[in-house]
Amino acid sequence: MAAVRFLLPFLPLLPLLLTLSLPTLCFSQSDADTLIKLKRSLSQGDLNSWKPGSSPCQKKWVGVMCSGQTIVGLHLTGLHLAGPVDVQALLQLRGLRTISLVRNSFTGPIPEFNKLGPLKAIYLSHNQFSGEIPNDYFASMGSLKKVWLNDNKLTGKIPESLMQLPHLVELHLEGNQFSGQIPPLKFPNALTSLNLTRNNLEGEIPASFSKFNASSFKENEGLCGKPLGIDCDKVQQSGASNPSGQNQGSGSSAKVVIGIATLIILLLFVIVSIISARRRRDDDFSVLGKEPLREEVVEVHVPESTRRKPSESSRRGSSDSKRGSSHHGSKNGMTDLVMVNDEKEAFGLQDLMKAAAEVLGNGGLGSAYKAVMANGLAVVVKRMREMNRLGKDGFDAEMRRFGKIRHPNILTPLAYHFRREEKLIVSEYMPKGSLLYVLHGDRGIIHANLNWPTRLKIIHGIARGLSFIYTEFATYEVPHGNLKSSNVLLTENYDPLLSDYAFQPLTNSSNAAQGLFAYKSPEYVQYQQVSPKSDVYCLGIIILEIITGKFPSQYLSNGKGGTDIVQWVQTSISDQNQVEELIDPEIAKDTDSLNQMLQLLQIGAACTESNPDQRLNMKEAIRRIEEVN
Ligand SMILES: *[C@@H]1O[C@H](CO)[C@@H](O)[C@H](O)[C@H]1NC(C)=O
Ligand SMILES: *[C@@H]1O[C@H](CO)[C@@H](O)[C@H](O)[C@H]1NC(C)=O
Repeated sequence: MAAVRFLLPFLPLLPLLLTLSLPTLCFSQSDADTLIKLKRSLSQGDLNSWKPGSSPCQKKWVGVMCSGQTIVGLHLTGLHLAGPVDVQALLQLRGLRTISLVRNSFTGPIPEFNKLGPLKAIYLSHNQFSGEIPNDYFASMGSLKKVWLNDNKLTGKIPESLMQLPHLVELHLEGNQFSGQIPPLKFPNALTSLNLTRNNLEGEIPASFSKFNASSFKENEGLCGKPLGIDCDKVQQSGASNPSGQNQGSGSSAKVVIGIATLIILLLFVIVSIISARRRRDDDFSVLGKEPLREEVVEVHVPESTRRKPSESSRRGSSDSKRGSSHHGSKNGMTDLVMVNDEKEAFGLQDLMKAAAEVLGNGGLGSAYKAVMANGLAVVVKRMREMNRLGKDGFDAEMRRFGKIRHPNILTPLAYHFRREEKLIVSEYMPKGSLLYVLHGDRGIIHANLNWPTRLKIIHGIARGLSFIYTEFATYEVPHGNLKSSNVLLTENYDPLLSDYAFQPLTNSSNAAQGLFAYKSPEYVQYQQVSPKSDVYCLGIIILEIITGKFPSQYLSNGKGGTDIVQWVQTSISDQNQVEELIDPEIAKDTDSLNQMLQLLQIGAACTESNPDQRLNMKEAIRRIEEVN
């Protein structure tokens, strides 16, 4: 059943460390060729800025770290890369000291990076690398200081040559399937950071690791020794097969408890979950979207503690909202809804629980439901996970601030519900759905033909909404933070309403990168930085999406499908060829307006410049959009 999918936990995000090491004085004319060769060896990946004939260091190819004109690092994080790595080509990069392929889709044995003798750091975390590493693999890599292979599927013994590296400072192998004994550490003084947790290691932890404590070794069933406080002799005598069983047990039972809790919450809020075939791509919800039509009725038993007076919604008006807020200090967290928008009629959690609910989709921040209450009011309930950055009072203050917003292009939330583990944000349901849905439809079925005047109106409305957000939330690191077409809702008259704005300060920082679209901007991918310019990038994507009518590949986390509209438009414009061909044929017929479309294409391109310094700022972007009339 679909509910099970909501239990999938978020993967913790590993903060990326970037090491730049001393460049060698060495100059190669053909670095570009080398990298293109590497790119070609890969079977997939977002390396569009790697273009033959340009200079990797001058043109700031994504992920290429330079010192002067020397390439010193490849920092290719989260670019959906997969396939064989042409290590032979990399040998040409004489200054290369750091390789990071963190969070990609590589599979199979780890490449022969050991041919790159001078490497100082190698980060391969969060891929699907598998198989055994040869015992002498690291023997030729005497300069290695940092080795991060965590969260892959590596098996076999930990190579002895790894533990013999003279300068090893950081070693992270957690979350693999390494087995057997831990080889002794030859140079214990250098190593400062060690993590071998979550493997199948066994036997006694060698004395050379004595300065590390249990948090470096946990969750290895057969491991014993001082750091874990498990006496190896006793283990052997008693024949206990699972000396660290306590750790194991508590870990997994915690997971079960979390799982059950999530399930209960889910059942509480979705009384009748009609999982219809009318799936929308609105919220990138590809998993559910592929399921066949199924109707399920989920029965719910509401615990006594939540059976507060039902709110008799329709009549009470604002007195109800006060009641809601006065409840929000209750201890068990099962509080009612807190109404934040005093213009709209109030309702309570009970009304929501009695409503017929339909799953709309699941995005990076959580899942969304449509609920139609007994009084006919249709709302969207978003269940937000990983929004614990603010405590209850801080969250309440933000929500009330959102609730006061009155702007024709901003969606004002109606209510929220706070629990420590997750939050619900309730807003009015917009029958036309999102811009994404209207533009691209449901599996290719276009639901509305948007003519040019309507598209222009939508672009203008988005700009006005943003202008407001940039005044209201001017001090935020990235004021909107999650601008994409699924977060632009359309009223009956196709006026756009921005939703899910200003969430960055609420979102756990480790999850912002997964949940907020601004974090898909090139500057975050490359340097882990976001700024208002990241919103400009997102605005550019929407403009190009509206004009080309294409589904941007940027919205898909796996990079499969869609069109890389940024690349397509930039190339077309810089090659000066047939820019008209970029325009959605649906609107290209409107030849009188061609000029407006071309102007906006230029603005979209200027908003999606990969270098934030060359990108328009929000003010300029809005001004230029408003000038298109
Ligand atoms: C174990 O070591 C880590 C650092 O390696 C440290 O953060 C942690 O506090 C230590 N835990 C205990 C219980 O000493
Ligand atoms: C090792 O990694 C786990 C997560 O996989 C983490 O909980 C633990 O704190 C880490 N220990 C050290 C010493 O870094």
